[in-house]
Amino acid sequence: MIKNKIYTPPPDKAVTHRAMLLAAIADGSTTISNPSVCEDTAATAACLKKLGVGISFGKNRLVVKGAGLRGLKKSAGELNAGESGTTIRLLAGLLAGQEFDSVITGQGSLLTRPMERVTRPLTAMGARIKSSAGRLPLRISGSKLRGTDHRLSIPSAQVKSALLFAGLYAEGPTSITERFQTRNHTERLLKYLGAKISSGGLNLYLRPGRFKAKNIKVPGDISSAAPFIVAACLLPDFKLTIKNAGLNPGRIGLINTLKAMGAMITIRPAASTPEPAGDITVSSSELKGIRIRPDEIPAMIDELPLLALAAARARGTTVIGGAGELRHKESDRLRTTLALFKTLGLNVEAGKDSLIIKGPQNIRGGRPAETFNDHRVAMAAAVGALLAAKPVKIKGAGCVKKSYPAFFADFKKVFN
Ligand code: S3P
Repeated sequence: MIKNKIYTPPPDKAVTHRAMLLAAIADGSTTISNPSVCEDTAATAACLKKLGVGISFGKNRLVVKGAGLRGLKKSAGELNAGESGTTIRLLAGLLAGQEFDSVITGQGSLLTRPMERVTRPLTAMGARIKSSAGRLPLRISGSKLRGTDHRLSIPSAQVKSALLFAGLYAEGPTSITERFQTRNHTERLLKYLGAKISSGGLNLYLRPGRFKAKNIKVPGDISSAAPFIVAACLLPDFKLTIKNAGLNPGRIGLINTLKAMGAMITIRPAASTPEPAGDITVSSSELKGIRIRPDEIPAMIDELPLLALAAARARGTTVIGGAGELRHKESDRLRTTLALFKTLGLNVEAGKDSLIIKGPQNIRGGRPAETFNDHRVAMAAAVGALLAAKPVKIKGAGCVKKSYPAFFADFKKVFN
């Protein structure tokens, strides 16, 4: 008998960060409906409050009183981005062009993550930022910025977004050319809010200026739904319907790849703005191996440990190439995925920036899995544990609070 389940993912974290930050500098008040409530988005809200922005939380919504483009106030103390890479990088762009100075710090894994990727291009715009040898804290002296042409060598939506935030304050237009397309949440929101932005292919062009507040609806988080998608594919006799998932083309690489591997996945898009969204149905599938190109990586950057797990159950060889950015996440995810595979009893070969997985393999389990304080590794471990022959204890599972506090409760509900 086929088990038929329905699941609604939590609200999208990446969209919520951007919605709060843009609402904070819009003219007027914004209601953000279905906002993500987790440690990372709480860090963004706390930083904005310290910058004088009114934010109040209601039931499944939050209201941001926009200060206007020039209305942020100098924070009385250091701003703390917690462990959130999106918070620190987007805030760095937002604060570089203010008339006051700021210090942003963070904690845990964020203290070891690279910051020159944002400080270097911001400096080219005239920003004055001091880091501690490329790490936190960032000391930002408010400066007059100039619009600059950027060619991004690192495929990173966080870097691109930081430059767009700075570009709002610059004298003259900012143009950005990406090497590979990354998620375009910031661009979509800017367009939706009436900012002067145009885009085509890998190119973006932004003119500085103010914009009016407009209510924002956040869709479900496709990255939070990803462990459920992979588990539903790999379990026998299972059908899962996922409601109201965000379908941004820069985020659905896992779905496109699983489909190319033979997964039975159908998408029903709904009318949704500013972000595309819809329902997804996933059924138990027989998968085959696949070769992933570097340009396909950004659209599934946070889902690669899960894809590797699906590849281990697929027939044939999967090669995930050009995935060096994984080394700069909450953990060195190439190394920690390898460690997770080892504890689960799976074989994987790793290169400097690649993973090679030969399948199908049986997931043995029976040994405790480390999460390395990385929420995405914890979620991949949960899928591995579900499919393993012997029980797997997940150590340090609390790190899922970073993006999805109810992850284990929801996972149990769907796959009990
Ligand atoms: C994010 C972009 C990605 C992703 C991160 C969230 C964003 O990072 O890994 O979880 O919100 O823009 P990079 O832009 O550094 O690849």
